[in-house]
Amino acid sequence: MHLKHFLQFNDFNGDEFEYLFERTRWIKQEFKQYRRYWPLAGKTLAMIFDKHSTRTRLSFEAGMHQLGGAAIYLPTKDTQLGRGEPVEDAAKVMSRMVDVITIRTYEQDIVRRFAENSIVPVINGLTDENHPCQILSDIFTFMEYRGDIAGKTIAWIGDSNNVCNTWLQAAEIFNFKVHVSTPPGYEIKPECVGLSGLNHYEKFSCPHEAVKNADLVTTDVWTSMGFEAETEARMNDFADFCVDSEMMACANRDALFMHCLPAHRGEEVSADVIDGPQSVVWDEAENRMHTQKALMEYLLLGKIG
Ligand code: CP
Ligand code: NVA
Repeated sequence: MHLKHFLQFNDFNGDEFEYLFERTRWIKQEFKQYRRYWPLAGKTLAMIFDKHSTRTRLSFEAGMHQLGGAAIYLPTKDTQLGRGEPVEDAAKVMSRMVDVITIRTYEQDIVRRFAENSIVPVINGLTDENHPCQILSDIFTFMEYRGDIAGKTIAWIGDSNNVCNTWLQAAEIFNFKVHVSTPPGYEIKPECVGLSGLNHYEKFSCPHEAVKNADLVTTDVWTSMGFEAETEARMNDFADFCVDSEMMACANRDALFMHCLPAHRGEEVSADVIDGPQSVVWDEAENRMHTQKALMEYLLLGKIG
């Protein structure tokens, strides 16, 4: 298989996602049955992290071990990257030593430059602009509960951040619609999203209007990593954008609730919603690991069988 990276969601096409989800279902089932599956024995994953993480780090590290390989966690500040070594040089060196690399960092441009100089697959573990591994898990989770996502409506409430951008890219590939409601000044930046058209999303100033007819309501923190200086202003600006039970009541009766986590109860979501019966956040978090195992298997071995 030729060298392939997963830097943003639309790096893959619909057939590739269908394959990944089929593999995820099988890989998850084997894991639940405590059956050993070691297709990546002898392979090594390097994980360069420039920002905090619980789920992304653990799901990649545990996932690689479960596939028979090894994972090396590299906080950027402990590497020479943290002392100014060029990204291009680091990519050339690291990719001679390992088989696959995950990066969590700031600008998307950093992962792009890294991948351009890497001889092994590079996976975006979150940038300011994108979080493709999150939406891989979110769509898989939606399908586990509700089947096909095509034709469905997703309501995104809050900040038009990396996770929102990735939902918008996914909407074009899977043919669903995203209703986006952000406070004024926090709207989608089309240049960050990489959309080919404007058919799959609609903007709403009122979040209650946005969730009408939604099959899934989702949100995220008001202040993403790297934007901490804006926290106080954002607390005021987003005050009307808490997904609470009153807002969920405006969505379809069987609407699911998702949040990539970590969550702030009482800010972007109320405790009764995230801990309530419509919330699928724990499955969503667990599925990070199963989907990423399928992703690593695909990037390293291609389609099996
Ligand atoms: N959802 C997510 O990426 O979580 P972490 O920041 O804990 O990795
Ligand atoms: N938008 C959040 C997601 C965290 C997983 C952030 O970038 O901090």
